[in-house]
Amino acid sequence: MSKVTIIGAGQTGATTAHWLAERELADLVLVDIVEGMPQGKALDLMEAMPVIGSDVKVTGSNGYEETADSDIVVLTAGLPRKPGMSRDDLLAANTKIVRTAVENALKYSPEAIFIILTNPLDVMSYLAMKVGNLPRERIIGQAGILDSARMRAFVAMELGVSVQNVHCYVLGGHGDNMVPLTRHSNVAGVPLVDMLPPDRLEAIVERTRKGGGEIVGLLKTGSAFYAPAAALAQMVEAILLDRHLVVPASAYLEGEYGQEGIFFGVPVQLGRGGLEKVIEYKLNDEEQAALQKSADHVRQTIKKLDI
Ligand code: NAI
Ligand code: 2OP
Repeated sequence: MSKVTIIGAGQTGATTAHWLAERELADLVLVDIVEGMPQGKALDLMEAMPVIGSDVKVTGSNGYEETADSDIVVLTAGLPRKPGMSRDDLLAANTKIVRTAVENALKYSPEAIFIILTNPLDVMSYLAMKVGNLPRERIIGQAGILDSARMRAFVAMELGVSVQNVHCYVLGGHGDNMVPLTRHSNVAGVPLVDMLPPDRLEAIVERTRKGGGEIVGLLKTGSAFYAPAAALAQMVEAILLDRHLVVPASAYLEGEYGQEGIFFGVPVQLGRGGLEKVIEYKLNDEEQAALQKSADHVRQTIKKLDI
């Protein structure tokens, strides 16, 4: 059985464990600093397994010994947003948390592939790569599956079609400058621009960009977790099952899309080795300019990092 460690057993971490345990893909270890909490959630999940019929082992811990020899480490530890906060407001607090978590996890799982969720996502992924001295194949950030899923959900609701028919691609940094690619999105092969009037399409693009904030505004005490966790589970599955699945995610770019030295949301192919390939779309000038604006923002935030 493969082994997946999830650091941070809060809303996103515990929900990721839930989605993964149901899929019976790997034994799971939940790590958190709160005493008893990861152990309690792990035991609760273990007690759910006879009902679900899944034979995975779920362990909770406040240390890292139990995480030894993990195939994948998912990092969700860190503060979430509260109403009025941007993802960038989390930078200082989450820098310390990500640094410690990556250093500790690598001591016990030197070959693991890391998937980062902690915000600000593109910058925390960059930090984790530098702290861990990881090759780009072994570190990927989750954002694009979630942002694209939000857009897909909004289109499906608007048109009354199955979510399975809706294909949307949101690239760029995980922030308000993200880039929903309407020209590359479609419903059962019909371009989105031919399915929706311009004002409705623009409204969906705007709602997608602010999708994280919409949930924060409703929840008030934290941010989204079901959809982010489902996105993490899809990435874990793609890697463990060597699916060669193409999904939007944050990857370290080495010239692709005209960007170098930053983590940025692009279509990537995921398989057993982690990041197998960055896929390059042909973009028009307007799309390229929107991506550039988003990349500039990520670059500015990286400059604020204390490393
Ligand atoms: P949460 O507050 O429910 O859980 C975070 C957990 O991290 C807490 O249980 C906390 O005790 C734990 N933690 C703090 N410091 C730790 C450390 N040093 N070691 C281990 N655990 C530690 O927050 P939630 O909702 O799970 O969000 C987690 C992070 O993920 C936030 O930064 C949030 O902004 C981000 N996020 C990113 C998304 C994305 O698409 N990239 C989507 C959703 C959340
Ligand atoms: C989201 O988009 C909080 O970044 C997280 O929901």
